[in-house]
Amino acid sequence: MKFDFNYYNPTKIYFGKTALNNLKKELANYGENILLVYGKNSIKKNGLYDKVMEILKESNKKVVELQGIKSNPTYTQMMEGARLVKENNVDLILAVGGGSVIDCSKGIAVSAYSEEDPWQKYWVDCKRVDNKVVPVGSILTMVGTGSEMNGGSVITNEEKMLKNGRVFSANVYPKFSILNPEYTYTVPKNQMVSGIFDTLSHLMEQYFSGDDNNTTDYVIEGVMNALIDNARVAIENPMDYEARSNIMWCATLGLNTVTGLSKEQDWEVHMIEHQVGAYTDCPHGIGLAIVSVPYYRYIYKYGLDKFVRFAKKVWKIHGKDMSKDEIALAGIEKLSDFIKELGIPTTLREIGATEEMLPLIANSTEIMDSGYKKLTADEILEILKEVY
Ligand code: NZQ
Ligand code: ZN
Repeated sequence: MKFDFNYYNPTKIYFGKTALNNLKKELANYGENILLVYGKNSIKKNGLYDKVMEILKESNKKVVELQGIKSNPTYTQMMEGARLVKENNVDLILAVGGGSVIDCSKGIAVSAYSEEDPWQKYWVDCKRVDNKVVPVGSILTMVGTGSEMNGGSVITNEEKMLKNGRVFSANVYPKFSILNPEYTYTVPKNQMVSGIFDTLSHLMEQYFSGDDNNTTDYVIEGVMNALIDNARVAIENPMDYEARSNIMWCATLGLNTVTGLSKEQDWEVHMIEHQVGAYTDCPHGIGLAIVSVPYYRYIYKYGLDKFVRFAKKVWKIHGKDMSKDEIALAGIEKLSDFIKELGIPTTLREIGATEEMLPLIANSTEIMDSGYKKLTADEILEILKEVY
């Protein structure tokens, strides 16, 4: 372990088939005004909305609703939530949904009482939160982002064509998160595989940095193996409880900061995807999968030993009579095969990108310098062209 770290994660997790039974006692910790935040229609279709409303009613809560949070949540929707919080003196924001709903809720939580323009203050200047923060609780229905146990809030500013992520500190993390794998049974296949790849991407972004012998790297390899094995089961049988629950916990572990401890961390694939998402509105994990393979083929030489280790420990390549380069590339090839196995598109064109968008995406992508290779905007453009 090369770098010093402090570790604190305040989110209480309730996991399993009976997890929702804990909502009532959690609600008792907050005042009567609740802002219920959810997506377009999935929770009404699968019955979760009715169950949650019943518990809120039994708990004598006054409920204001913010419905219709879209995938890749927008700044406009977030500010509408901030207005509702102030108007109704909200005591708790209850997010019921996937990463978009939870990210939006955290955004509302920090923005409602901000005296400055929240976009500039928090998503551009990344200033410390110095205003009142409204507590957030979550009920997770779509797995992948890890938002249920972290401070991430990724918001799309539709006017500025920017999808910016901000990682807030522990006072913005959900106070509690309810994780019942059964709620994920109704997630459509394209979203399920998007979430699976998002989790794998979080693990790779943290893994491919530094070349030290780090306990975190061993943890990540274990979680990657669990994720890949269980993804294969879930694709065949989406109703397999064990597989869905393993995937759910892999996703939470994948970005609850445990798998980033003492690591430099890269995150360039995410930066590229965020701008691909700003222009195409694609599901997050699908955009990540498309750009990952050309990105890793481009940078592997700069972190060769780690890519060899990835090929051997994650993809079980023996590497006998192979050069380091051959082993590393064989590992990336296995990653590419896995993406195809998940049924994910492999070109930007398939998710609605046009040729004119590519330079706009490349020039607006944030460039990180914590991975193996710091890219230029021109190099990002080349990577995008390769998978156009
Ligand atoms: O809107 P509804 O009708 O609820 O449908 C949603 C949505 O269309 C549907 N869905 C969710 N649960 C369902 C369901 N459909 C049927 N049954 C269920 N149980 O799934 C669709 C996608 O949901 P969304 O929340 O958008 O997906 P995800 O969890 O992948 O979140 C994506 C957002 O999170 C950000 C992404 O950039 C993107 O904006 N991220 C957040 C991170 C964080 N907070 O740390 C990190 C990630 O890297 C990521 O950037
Ligand atoms: Zn992600």
